Amino acid sequence: MGDSELLPPGVIVVTGASRGLGRGLVEHLLGLGRPVIAVARRFPEDDGAAAPDPTRLIQVEADLSSTDGIEAALAAIRAGLGSRPLAALVNGAGRITPIGPLAGHSSDDLLAAFTLAAVAPARLSTALADRLVPGGRVLNLSTRSAHATFPGLSLYCLSKHALRSVTRSLQLELPATVGVADLIPGEVDTAMQADLRAPDPADFPLASFFRANEVNLIPTDVAVAFLAWVLLATPLDSFRREQPWYVYDPADQPQWLPEGVAFTYSEP
Ligand SMILES: NC(=O)c1ccc[n+]([C@@H]2O[C@H](COP(=O)([O-])OP(=O)(O)OC[C@H]3O[C@@H](n4cnc5c(N)ncnc54)[C@H](OP(=O)(O)O)[C@@H]3O)[C@@H](O)[C@H]2O)c1
Repeated sequence: MGDSELLPPGVIVVTGASRGLGRGLVEHLLGLGRPVIAVARRFPEDDGAAAPDPTRLIQVEADLSSTDGIEAALAAIRAGLGSRPLAALVNGAGRITPIGPLAGHSSDDLLAAFTLAAVAPARLSTALADRLVPGGRVLNLSTRSAHATFPGLSLYCLSKHALRSVTRSLQLELPATVGVADLIPGEVDTAMQADLRAPDPADFPLASFFRANEVNLIPTDVAVAFLAWVLLATPLDSFRREQPWYVYDPADQPQWLPEGVAFTYSEP
């Protein structure tokens, strides 16, 4: 890809950065020399030792499924930014569990799912918008479950549908100097997919689909290459398109696939 970077200089905030796509993106950004503020509930023990320089990486531990956690994260992000410019916010934190029918979920489960998937991106984006440099970007990690509803995935689907609406509101309401988009990374080989394979198919019939689909999973580094290209290398007016960026879109693949890598992962 060779991230020919069109994103202006500045700090990039990434939520959901302790593992999976978020962690992969943070490592990619650090490799490019981009300063990062990473957010998750807990980071692996050895991370602090690997990246002690706070001008490169600040790790914020906060629970984005509670409003108190969101406000704590915001305070820590602002403190971490100091006077530095903010180039982008990537709302990546997500959770597929608890899996099961809507009837089995408590009001607290519903609120936590909404808060993590939709309230946190809405609040972080709007509260940090005035820190974004001209040409700065907000990128929300979406899913096919923001557009379709699947049995047993009620919490995930309803909360990601809400995130889709958050993205559209931000596109319509944030200043024109800021780009907002959402992105569907596809079926990626992360802990989230393991959570989808784990249940007994008697309780969650789609577990059989996710078990069979393991052979089609996109490696995290390939999905991260797509994410990084969309975030860093697309022109602002292309970036902020109404429909989500979609990893399976063959028209885009020649632009972001790393050299020598073929995209052999079938669209489910
Ligand atoms: N993998 C896929 O196939 C796939 C497909 C479509 C969309 N996506 C989307 O891509 C994003 C990343 O998914 P992934 O596959 O990388 O998942 P993952 O490996 O399970 O990572 C999820 C990240 O979110 C963080 N997180 C979860 N709950 C949180 C909370 N309450 N507060 C703060 N952070 C929290 C986790 O850290 P802690 O647990 O330490 O807090 C972790 O860093 C998600 O938004 C997901 O919906 C993934």
